[in-house]
Amino acid sequence: MPTRTATARACSNIALIKYWGNRDEALRLPANPSISFNLRDLHTTTVVVFDPALAADELIIDGLVAASSARTRVGAFLDLIRATAPTGDGSVFARVTSDNNFPMGAGIASSASAFAALGVAATAALGLTNTEAQLSALARRGSGSASRSLPAGFVAWKDECAWSIAAPDHWDLVDVIGVVSTGEKKTGSTEGHALAGTSPLQVARVADAPRRFERCMSAIRTRDFDQLAAVIEQDALMMHGVMMTSDPPLMYWLPASLAIMHEVQSMRARGVPVAFTIDAGPNIHCICDAPVADIVATTIAELAGVARVLRSPVGGGAMLLTTWSAGILPAL
Ligand code: PMV
Repeated sequence: MPTRTATARACSNIALIKYWGNRDEALRLPANPSISFNLRDLHTTTVVVFDPALAADELIIDGLVAASSARTRVGAFLDLIRATAPTGDGSVFARVTSDNNFPMGAGIASSASAFAALGVAATAALGLTNTEAQLSALARRGSGSASRSLPAGFVAWKDECAWSIAAPDHWDLVDVIGVVSTGEKKTGSTEGHALAGTSPLQVARVADAPRRFERCMSAIRTRDFDQLAAVIEQDALMMHGVMMTSDPPLMYWLPASLAIMHEVQSMRARGVPVAFTIDAGPNIHCICDAPVADIVATTIAELAGVARVLRSPVGGGAMLLTTWSAGILPAL
């Protein structure tokens, strides 16, 4: 096999209805349905080179050789793809170079954009043709939320793969992220999903999920901000209720996280269309209508404990940028 290369890019996404807990850990099939939108300005670009000269998979993230745990996870993901490759291609190792355009150490999870971009690049490099649904199902095996970074815009996910429920320009929302400074080591989401079932609240959260899912779908369909605000805040607080009551408990919030949540609710009481959601970390995502994004960002930035503010509008789906095989000229 000649050296084969492809480059792909995928956006991160922010869940409005959270995925927390798996009904099948190995296959990463979710315990409950979720909804997200892609973050146009927070993305990962990944180059995959399948090279017969390599003795093992190599992984470079943001210019640094990755920790062995990350290499093992990426190697296992590449094995899934190699298993479907034509005979001969299935044993070739890859050099994976992954670059995030968002700052390292900002506590913004990159696994969604990373596995979406990696799946698109690695399959294209091996010449495998897949539908968006197949690529979404593949990305899911690397990180559940990565399944939602394949389709464009507003995205829903229930089972094997995610699908687009509305185009990026359907609703001009912005995610203004209050990055709360922290040096603490946090429990990663793979470990967190496995703990969800230890909370007595998880059963109730999962049982009520179809109601929240439908409410959020309808809020997006009708661009009803008040309905969206009510359901996404309740959903995020239910997930953190499960996290805080797991064994061992997962306490992600810092004092500044709570300060932002209070500020968001008081801004909304004053008529500003903004609502919060929170992933597995202390940062607060302030979802707002685009015209108020500047005022939301300025207000949040002034709070004590907020290290920086990032922001992004709704983005498109994962895409292949280039593909190339040694000895064959790239298509222009
Ligand atoms: O895809 P994972 O395993 O990193 O899990 C993501 C979990 C949350 O970000 C907390 C919620 C979500 O739906 O994205």
